[in-house]
Amino acid sequence: MKIAVIGTGYVGLVTGTCLAETGNNVICVDIVEDKINKMKSGILPIYEPGLDILFHRNIEQGRLNFTTNLADAIKDAVIIFLALPTPPGGDGKADLSYVLGAAKDIANLITDYKVIVTKSTVPVGTADKVKAVFKENTLIDVDVVSNPEFLREGVAVEDFMKPDRVVVGSSSEKARKLMEELYGPYVRSGNPVIFMDERSSELTKYAANSFLATKITFMNEVANLCELVGADVDMVRKGIGSDARIGKRFLFPGIGYGGSCFPKDVQALAMSSKEYDYSFKILDAVMDVNQTQKLKIVEKMIKYYNGDLSGKKFALWGLAFKPETDDIREAPALYIIDELTKAGAEVVAYDPEAMENVKKMKGDVLSFVENPYDALKDADALIIATEWQLFRNPDFDLMEKNLKSKVIFDGRNLYDLHKMIDLGYYYNSIGRAT
Ligand code: UGA
Repeated sequence: MKIAVIGTGYVGLVTGTCLAETGNNVICVDIVEDKINKMKSGILPIYEPGLDILFHRNIEQGRLNFTTNLADAIKDAVIIFLALPTPPGGDGKADLSYVLGAAKDIANLITDYKVIVTKSTVPVGTADKVKAVFKENTLIDVDVVSNPEFLREGVAVEDFMKPDRVVVGSSSEKARKLMEELYGPYVRSGNPVIFMDERSSELTKYAANSFLATKITFMNEVANLCELVGADVDMVRKGIGSDARIGKRFLFPGIGYGGSCFPKDVQALAMSSKEYDYSFKILDAVMDVNQTQKLKIVEKMIKYYNGDLSGKKFALWGLAFKPETDDIREAPALYIIDELTKAGAEVVAYDPEAMENVKKMKGDVLSFVENPYDALKDADALIIATEWQLFRNPDFDLMEKNLKSKVIFDGRNLYDLHKMIDLGYYYNSIGRAT
């Protein structure tokens, strides 16, 4: 099939590349010329495990192309994906100007039937707004489909190639058939393509992310309570996760959820519910708890150092909002850095992928090292903010040699509690004894 993908951000680029991988002819469009030129010469603008192999293979075989020219891109395409940003507007609601702007441009260019797919996370009612834009601007017949993306950063390729499910919101039989054909190769193992109306599909995406954020937040509150009552959250997690109705996944407590999706989507769902005079109370609580959880470690440190962090030097392992990404949007580490440096402490950070991004944003308030053990030199404590595999089994001898004091504040519960006690550490993690 001939496909155009408008927007080569994270979702657009993964979508375009993975669609090319099953033999489709894909052309990706972006307004940023420099980015398009780089991709044309084989440079991937994002870090995502496994994407580079598919990216290069499909460029070489001519199935994946890039352009800044929208007219050229959509001329032969049957399906046009809109993978454009929907950032939170000033009122907390998603800003649809990129999506609706692109719809208008496309409407003014098309000469034959197209399926327009909204891939970005968009508020309920967006498909209707996109339809209205086409109605106002062209007489050509189009179908507008909602097809939310559920991929996770870090495992995006795997999630796209073998999705748990594909959700397609469309009231057109013709569009449904095309989407079914397109996604057929990805659901060969029997996972479903679930067809529904556009509004249900749009809400599915917000409900999924908000539910997962709520699940994590619930566990974070259980962890906080564990610390107070003397229970171990690892045990409680295993105890409840074995119930199939609860499930083992997404029950890991930590220093709050971050990233470009959960915070934005929980807020957008809470705000848009209010528009319908409905107060989605649980989401207000989730946002509130998550904000506090991001600073849980700092709260513990203030207590440990009797309220005075000034002049202390801290090693920080992990800056990305989660492992296997260089994405630092809403990363708990950023909040921790701000609080510690405001309190007069020095922070030396190491992250395998995200240091460049933090340098650009906060380069003047902390320093960076190229090796995790260099960060520990003369440090009063180690703080762990991201669970990179690299940190899971460190050289404890070297760690001990470099640290000034054997103190660790672990926001991701990486180490065995008893092992750390045996090694003589003051080890403060989430929801476990100290
Ligand atoms: C999330 C969803 O998982 C995807 O399904 C969705 O497509 C995506 O948002 C999106 O809307 O585009 P992502 O933001 O890449 O994906 O990251 P997750 O792996 O879901 O993690 C989100 C946050 O939850 C991270 O900060 C992570 O550290 C935290 N988390 C996750 C926990 O604190 N505990 C857990 O058990 C799991």
